[in-house]
Amino acid sequence: MDAFNHDPKMVEKVKVLLGEEGFEQTFAPIEEASGLPNAAYWSEDWLKLEQEHVFQKSWVFAGAEAEIPENGDMKPLSIGGAPLVIVRDQDGSVRALHNVCRHRGAKLVTKPCRKASFTCPYHAWNYGLNGKLRARPHFSGADQIDRFEDGGGPKLDLVEARCETWNGCIFVNVSGTAEPLLDWLRPMLNRTKNYDYSSIRWAGKIDFEVDANWKLVYENYMEGYHVFAVHPKLLKFAPMNVRWSGEWDDHVFYNDYIFPEIEEGRGDGLPHYPDLPEDDAKRGLWFLAFPHFAAEVFPDQFTLLVSYPIAPNKTREELHVFLIGEAATSDIYKEPREAVMKMWDDLNREDIGMLELLQEGRLSPAYDGGRLSPHWEDPTHQFGRRIVEKIIEA
Ligand code: FES
Ligand SMILES: [Fe+2]
Repeated sequence: MDAFNHDPKMVEKVKVLLGEEGFEQTFAPIEEASGLPNAAYWSEDWLKLEQEHVFQKSWVFAGAEAEIPENGDMKPLSIGGAPLVIVRDQDGSVRALHNVCRHRGAKLVTKPCRKASFTCPYHAWNYGLNGKLRARPHFSGADQIDRFEDGGGPKLDLVEARCETWNGCIFVNVSGTAEPLLDWLRPMLNRTKNYDYSSIRWAGKIDFEVDANWKLVYENYMEGYHVFAVHPKLLKFAPMNVRWSGEWDDHVFYNDYIFPEIEEGRGDGLPHYPDLPEDDAKRGLWFLAFPHFAAEVFPDQFTLLVSYPIAPNKTREELHVFLIGEAATSDIYKEPREAVMKMWDDLNREDIGMLELLQEGRLSPAYDGGRLSPHWEDPTHQFGRRIVEKIIEA
């Protein structure tokens, strides 16, 4: 383990869950290392540590602004195990609120909807879209209503979480302690200076339920090794001899390649980023801003794959596609837009089949994390190490 500021109590806790050897192998060089041991994929206690130390303390993608276009639109989601709701306030701004009533703690919003205010289903406390308490019916006796002109203060108003937006993407940091959003995105932005992200518009999303641990999604996402066997169509589009393993730049993994020809779903029939240099017209880049903001940048799109753990063996995935300008919504581009969606849907389903096999395999006492390819899988190995580091960091 590198000398960095860690909490000895957390190290002990991690060693109990992963075993001494499981802990050490995470920090070994790739030639001798294994992946994380099975407990990291099946243990509820381990997932709790990840939720609290990884997801709550990091920036998490909470959705596209276009999912809540009108004032009063709201989308509930769970971040780091905590129920939250993103909402467009009366003044058009986007907020993240803890999705829990200040009275007896009922969850307020259960599905995406549009409302003028929040009314708790249990005893009907009413809150404004900014989270401030407005009314408490019958609290002080039948048929009496306590009204609040300017909210009920820190003990009664809904609790707000840190929330920022970037070119139509909404990010939430539950702990409030993460670095500034742009610093966190910086390694990606530095490598894509030619791409004018102000031109991207949300074209839609696809939801997936996966019977596998959330980490497997990204371990798979980072390595091209499986493309040989799993993605015949992708293999034709981007032959493996133009590929490399990618690497981490601080907390952001990145990789890229130049593909020989554009095709339907990737670059063909849709407008490219404005003023994109010739060299980038056949380039694919992909990133993972730790822990779960996976972004694929092609000349005609910005596509996200974000995973939300539900249980050790259950993950919710959202695949969001952003296209350039009117390509995202105009009828003229309906066909090529649908081709992009279908391409991602097909590709992701090929991966999901494998992820579910990996999850099952990790029930085996004969498997300890495996032997990884130094040529292809160093970034994957480092992802596991990063998780452990985040949990034990002081
Ligand atoms: S729990 Fe919400 S009003 Fe009672
Ligand atoms: Fe894949």
